[in-house]
Amino acid sequence: MTSAQSLPASYFEALYQTDPDPWKFETSEYEAQKYAATIAALPQSQYAAALEIGGSIGVLTQQLAQRCAALLSIDVSKLAQDQAIQRCQHLPQVHFELMNFPDQYPDQKFDLILVSEIGYYWCRQDLLTAQQRIFELLQPGGHLLLVHWLPVSPDYPLTGDQVHDSFLERVPVSLRHLHSQRNTNYRLDLFEQI
Ligand SMILES: C[S@@+](CC[C@H](N)C(=O)[O-])C[C@H]1O[C@@H](n2cnc3c(N)ncnc32)[C@H](O)[C@@H]1O
Repeated sequence: MTSAQSLPASYFEALYQTDPDPWKFETSEYEAQKYAATIAALPQSQYAAALEIGGSIGVLTQQLAQRCAALLSIDVSKLAQDQAIQRCQHLPQVHFELMNFPDQYPDQKFDLILVSEIGYYWCRQDLLTAQQRIFELLQPGGHLLLVHWLPVSPDYPLTGDQVHDSFLERVPVSLRHLHSQRNTNYRLDLFEQI
């Protein structure tokens, strides 16, 4: 793994400044199919309190909300989160906070945590801190769903595989591994907190 620093808030603010939807979440068929697989991987029809780390402009947030009595979506980018707030304004169960995870984190427990396309922005040390925070925030029996792009991006400190493999190292002491799915471009792993 590289010794690069985690990508800062300014990196994402600059991306959203240039293009309000830099990854084409609203229009990409690839993203739509991945989102459908993400939602389909959730074992429970409803979660009492879910946390989405890196909710971006709220396209996946909106879909995830259908399965949650309460959903907290956090992101480091105000430009992105302002769009998400707008998109989800008809969904009273969704709340938003600007947070730079894992340095900043919510003060409550969750029965679902979604980490979709964000783990490779952390450096190795922040990934390990993020893992520890996630274990503390997740209730026993709670679900952790990871979804990440696999091809290597030179800007990013880690790869999707490094992120998922790091969580797999915590099986079976901290996590139970429930499901794994690997496609050409992304990987999905579902865990349950011990
Ligand atoms: C590629 S988007 C992922 C969006 C969404 N989760 C999805 O799968 O469609 C990554 C998002 O993570 C946010 N992000 C990056 N580092 C973060 C951090 N340390 N804490 C919170 N959000 C972060 C970025 O601002 C960006 O909106």
